[in-house]
Amino acid sequence: MSIRIRPACEAELDLIKAITVESFGGVSVDHGIEQQLGVLAGHDWKWRKARHIDADWAANPAGVFVAELDGSVAGYITAVVDSAAGRGRIPNLAVTASARGRGLGRALIEHALAYFRAKGLEFAVIETMASNPVGQSLYPSSGFVEVGRQIHYACRL
Ligand SMILES: CC(C)(COP(=O)(O)OP(=O)(O)OC[C@H]1O[C@@H](n2cnc3c(N)ncnc32)[C@H](O)[C@@H]1OP(=O)(O)O)[C@@H](O)C(=O)NCCC(=O)NCCS
Repeated sequence: MSIRIRPACEAELDLIKAITVESFGGVSVDHGIEQQLGVLAGHDWKWRKARHIDADWAANPAGVFVAELDGSVAGYITAVVDSAAGRGRIPNLAVTASARGRGLGRALIEHALAYFRAKGLEFAVIETMASNPVGQSLYPSSGFVEVGRQIHYACRL
């Protein structure tokens, strides 16, 4: 088994979005909104969630990395830099279901943290849903400490 992490190219965004929508069922605010309010504006939660990847790419294309497992892309992470604040943020991270449990997720986080350090940043932030047990295990064991909890609300207009 070989794991390689490298910068993504724009042509891989559709693949990254496909990994995103297959991965975030039950563990994303967008899915939670749809479960409570139904489909909105003619688009399901997957359409909405996939747009986050476009936003991450627009914010920092150099901070989108893919993980290859034995030569095939099986996961990704996005890393956004706020140099003035000294802050790196990881908005999105996913590994395709069949490749999980082999260390790709942890390796992607370590890669993003090394990227932030190389940029001279002082701290990094990441969020997870309370419904996501993996995040609540993986992030503390990757060096993150819990700093607060947020509740997301939505209403129909
Ligand atoms: C989160 C995710 C990227 C992890 O990817 P992965 O490649 O399976 O991660 P790893 O193999 O590096 O394993 C990470 C750790 O999580 C642990 N883990 C896995 N499933 C777990 C679970 N259900 N509960 C608690 N810990 C769990 C593993 O044991 C491992 O810890 P270890 O290294 O001490 O053994 C992947 O599960 C995923 O894509 N999930 C859906 C999308 C998602 O939740 N993204 C993050 C949003 S905050």
